[in-house]
Amino acid sequence: MSETSFKQRVFSGIQPSGNLTLGNYLGAVKRFVEMQNSGIETIYCMVDLHAITVWQDPVALRNQTRELAAAYIACGLDPQKSILFNQSQVSAHAELGWLLSCVARLGWMNRMTQFKDKAGKNAEKMSLGLYAYPALMAADILAYQATHVPVGEDQKQHVELTRDIAAKFNHDFGVDLFPMPEPIIEGAATRVMSLRDGSKKMSKSDPSDKSRINMTDDADTIASKIRKAKTDPEPLPSELDGLQGRPEARNLVNIYAALSGVTPDAVLAEFGGQQFGTFKPALAELAVNHLAPISGEMARLMAQPDEIDRILGDGAMRADAIAAPVLAQVKEAIGMISSR
Ligand code: TYM
Repeated sequence: MSETSFKQRVFSGIQPSGNLTLGNYLGAVKRFVEMQNSGIETIYCMVDLHAITVWQDPVALRNQTRELAAAYIACGLDPQKSILFNQSQVSAHAELGWLLSCVARLGWMNRMTQFKDKAGKNAEKMSLGLYAYPALMAADILAYQATHVPVGEDQKQHVELTRDIAAKFNHDFGVDLFPMPEPIIEGAATRVMSLRDGSKKMSKSDPSDKSRINMTDDADTIASKIRKAKTDPEPLPSELDGLQGRPEARNLVNIYAALSGVTPDAVLAEFGGQQFGTFKPALAELAVNHLAPISGEMARLMAQPDEIDRILGDGAMRADAIAAPVLAQVKEAIGMISSR
């Protein structure tokens, strides 16, 4: 196994494909901020190349990319401490994506559950990019030789595929160029569920806006979505076991725990025996207190698109300075002549 020790480096990304949801925030961005503040080198991307695997209106894509940048910063990412940029500005992503798609095996790609979920019965009509997307995600991570990848639970399989691709590349070319990146999936809300259906993930692409809380929702909207969230008629249990078979109740307890920074056990110790009529207003108040300052700051930043573009431009240059030499080593290992 690898003798080389790689410098600790964090990479993660989010698609600028719509509103950032409470799921993205609790499952990913909150962790991004913690990792940044722990002093490790952190690189966070707006993955616009991933977003276009399904149709994106060009005007909306531009706006959503800036809005995601604003959300990153409003949630506590500091462009001085973390590298923040949009993926398409660093050409190593697309180039390495191609090189690694020649390493990844079709059998591996065929096991990716997210493609199956997204394509459903319409696989024939999906873009080739949607199918190849996990190889691009591997390139995102490996272009920076990243060692840690904070993500929600739904991305675990893609990070595992990245490890398989990295190991096969190192083995095939007899090099030690790529680390085995570790998924970091932590906290009480690694899989936030839809507010309308406890068996479905909360998602930016769900047709029902009531299924999710968007980071830009105002206080009344947040309170109303939580009040109307699907639940059952039972009071909350005092212990975790009592949440078995109650996915909607479990989801709201997990959200409360993640927002308040305590364990789900602690939430049940406080609210066990209480009805949703009591718990939901408490959760709504917690969510509003937490999210209102973020959406306020996002609105302030969105009024200065030039400043956002400047931050992204600076981030892209710093990202390129790390990724370009790695890409050069990859080409060298493969046997490509560097002729200029
Ligand atoms: P994306 O844009 O779908 O989601 C961004 C991040 O949010 C997490 N997430 C959730 N966490 C908890 N509960 C939910 N309901 C929920 N929904 C989303 C996701 O797990 C993710 O961490 N392929 C990735 C983006 C990507 C990437 C990368 C990530 C591209 N390249 C390299 C890490 C490293 C995606 O589509 O995430």
